[in-house]
Amino acid sequence: MFYRPGQDEHGLPRNPFNALITPRPIAWVSTRAADGATNLAPFSFFNGAAYEPPIISIAFTGAKLGAHKGERKDTLANIRETKDFAVNIVPSALKDAMNATAGHFGIGESEFAAAGVTEAPCETITAPRVAESPACFECRLVRLVELPNEGPGENVTVFGRVLGVHISESILTDGFVDPTKFHPLARMGYLDYATITEVFAMNRPD
Ligand SMILES: Cc1cc2nc3c(=O)[nH]c(=O)nc-3n(C[C@H](O)[C@H](O)[C@H](O)COP(=O)(O)O)c2cc1C
Repeated sequence: MFYRPGQDEHGLPRNPFNALITPRPIAWVSTRAADGATNLAPFSFFNGAAYEPPIISIAFTGAKLGAHKGERKDTLANIRETKDFAVNIVPSALKDAMNATAGHFGIGESEFAAAGVTEAPCETITAPRVAESPACFECRLVRLVELPNEGPGENVTVFGRVLGVHISESILTDGFVDPTKFHPLARMGYLDYATITEVFAMNRPD
């Protein structure tokens, strides 16, 4: 099959776009508003964007359906305001806590408390991090790119320079980050998730 998004009907029960870009890592992003209020929410349009210096990208997308239709995302508002954000890595054991933070929260309601996780201070930024997360990147905004948008809300990708990296000793084996020790959670299409339980290595051709 072939379809042109925005021009043709794909004819499938659900939009297949996300389901073809899988598995996606999940950035569990903690921020602090200028007034001090903290925020925590998951984002899977997330990846590394550069090595030297390390830079992370996160895409905020306009919500088309449901309670979040066209709504501003507090995470993006806080990043615009303070330039700081922390990306916490999600082990499978925290899947329900992560999911809870994608819910609808009013101003002053703590997503940390609702998810049952603990705020810990960062070293280089004012945003807090999730103490229970096995790794965290402390990031400072370097670029914010506004993308074309044909729905409610806005499409904005932020790029953050990594100023600090926390790694729990518990996920290291002989100094290597070992995914089998924390089973990183991955976002798939639709309502699906996956987890990494085994890995294999391959040599490059040269
Ligand atoms: C696993 C998962 C991944 C998500 N990925 C994204 C994403 O990449 N971009 C986005 O804009 N929203 C994404 N969302 C939706 C946001 O988490 C949701 O809109 C959240 O309420 C935003 O919270 P905030 O207003 O506190 O920033 C995702 C939700 C879940 C559960």
